[in-house]
Amino acid sequence: MSRRTLIAGNWKMNGSAAAVDAFASAIAADAGSTDADLLVCVPFVYIERMARGLAGTGVALGAQNLADVGEPGAYTGEVNGAMLRESGCTHVIVGHSERRAMYGETDSVVAAKLEAAVAAGLVPVVCVGETLAEREADRAEAVLSAQVDALFEQCRPESLARMVLAYEPVWAIGTGRSASPEQAQAIHAFLRGRIAQQDATLANSMQLLYGGSVKPDNAAALFAGADVDGALVGGASLKADSFLDIARAAP
Ligand code: G3P
Repeated sequence: MSRRTLIAGNWKMNGSAAAVDAFASAIAADAGSTDADLLVCVPFVYIERMARGLAGTGVALGAQNLADVGEPGAYTGEVNGAMLRESGCTHVIVGHSERRAMYGETDSVVAAKLEAAVAAGLVPVVCVGETLAEREADRAEAVLSAQVDALFEQCRPESLARMVLAYEPVWAIGTGRSASPEQAQAIHAFLRGRIAQQDATLANSMQLLYGGSVKPDNAAALFAGADVDGALVGGASLKADSFLDIARAAP
């Protein structure tokens, strides 16, 4: 089956009102120059501004996190999926390694957030990845298996059918040291195989993105992997020109 290519930007805790406006107007002028689907995930406070700027471009908008509960209530500082939908989001990043490492998100929390996203009508972009120590100890596949298996144990099949999976090796994030195209493809094939053990149809249809130091000059080689269906881009997504250059490298 042919899967669509998705190029997603993760601005993390970066940006400003001026940066949002500059990005949106540059994208609006040029979004038609790629066949890939585009998504940009910005800090909560810029979602509505970016939504206005991207209106009519076909570029999707996402958040970087959501509450693991859907019901509104006394959860100071939290934002639920319904609020994100109302603000213009169609997607949300879930379980980024920075949230797992710095904010204590466990596999169980990630699974709950996946369910909360789907319940709100959002597409969860769920991140998995191993640290350098885990890779060097030859534990990458075991770590990734545990992260993926937890989703299958805790989430409903119909929710899993909505998700996008992003492989982000922690050692490649923000380091300028991307996984090689061969490393990325090997892990993506492994992940698809692991999912196929649970559900072959789902494994075939699920979009698998690679994230970790994706740049215009390494994107085409990464996208050549048969199981690489796009990218989750951090630093290079902050400027429209490099983000679009990556998207234009997609097959
Ligand atoms: O979610 C994207 C990310 O973690 C990769 O960041 O800056 O290495 O492209 P970067």
